[in-house]
Amino acid sequence: MQLENQVTIITGGASGMGLATVMRFLTEGARVMIADYNQATGEAALHEAIEAGYAGRVGFVRTDVAQEASVEEMIQATLRQFGRLDVLFNNAGVGGAIGPLTETTESDWDYTFDVLAKGVFFGIKHGARVMQSQAEGGVIINTASIAGLSGDGGPLVYSAAKAAVISMTQSAAVELAASRIRVNAICPGFIVTPLADGGNAGATQKVFAHSQPWPDYGRGEHIAGAAVFLASSDSAFVTGEALVVDGGLTAAGPELSKKFPKTSGRNAKVSGITKGSTGDAPEIRRLDRD
Ligand SMILES: NC(=O)c1ccc[n+]([C@@H]2O[C@H](COP(=O)([O-])OP(=O)(O)OC[C@H]3O[C@@H](n4cnc5c(N)ncnc54)[C@H](O)[C@@H]3O)[C@@H](O)[C@H]2O)c1
Repeated sequence: MQLENQVTIITGGASGMGLATVMRFLTEGARVMIADYNQATGEAALHEAIEAGYAGRVGFVRTDVAQEASVEEMIQATLRQFGRLDVLFNNAGVGGAIGPLTETTESDWDYTFDVLAKGVFFGIKHGARVMQSQAEGGVIINTASIAGLSGDGGPLVYSAAKAAVISMTQSAAVELAASRIRVNAICPGFIVTPLADGGNAGATQKVFAHSQPWPDYGRGEHIAGAAVFLASSDSAFVTGEALVVDGGLTAAGPELSKKFPKTSGRNAKVSGITKGSTGDAPEIRRLDRD
């Protein structure tokens, strides 16, 4: 077990990749506080964990990460139940503002940034305070997104907020390193969760299985595995990192092999070297393929 007795808070732990991480951390021996805005799904997640045999090692606290007082109470509730804090996973999120940027209102922007960016800041701030007072180091993990890495991975405001999460991760990693608090981000690609599937998981699984080079759809468990690595001592020298977990989606970049299948990628019909503007002729071998 990689996380024996590690006291962990997982925001957004009632659903999707947060819930998958709750269950995985429990199997790894952690003590887990589920923190979520949604009372009903939060209680259901708590019930699921207790039914799975983890009573006494799991709790739920209703939390709005966009409200500083609520984040403070989330941490106090964790200290009351488990006595300390070792790992904080700032994972809660929403899709937020959608539609053309020319139609996006100030309140659309504010809601999105309050949950996705300010919520992560409050978590880092109050989590670090407790970890510093314990003087034994700690781990903070933030859920960013591949949307924060390019211009077409999500709506504008969502992408800007996720880029802010990556930036805060780097700044906090630098500032908190002396306190031995590691701060990393996870950048998920397309993951089938209630946020992404709009209530139609089956159809989304089919689409997401073909949305990146890796031939399986992304699951919450894939993110949970990355979170275990970042929370465990296996990543003891990793801080300020934004770990991309996307089945090769960002690695694919401009996807030349899809746009020019005859000359690039595994289905190309030729091999050899081109010599640009040298004046030398290319040396091309035609491959014996249909
Ligand atoms: N699913 C994807 O494809 C994908 C891709 C990249 C990044 N993400 C990010 O991953 C994280 C988890 O998303 P998911 O896909 O598991 O979604 P999800 O909807 O299944 O779970 C998100 C959880 O966050 C909770 N939440 C929302 N606002 C909150 C608030 N103000 N305070 C506390 N809890 C709140 C929700 O109630 C929900 O339980 C989010 O930050 C999301 O932006 C998702």
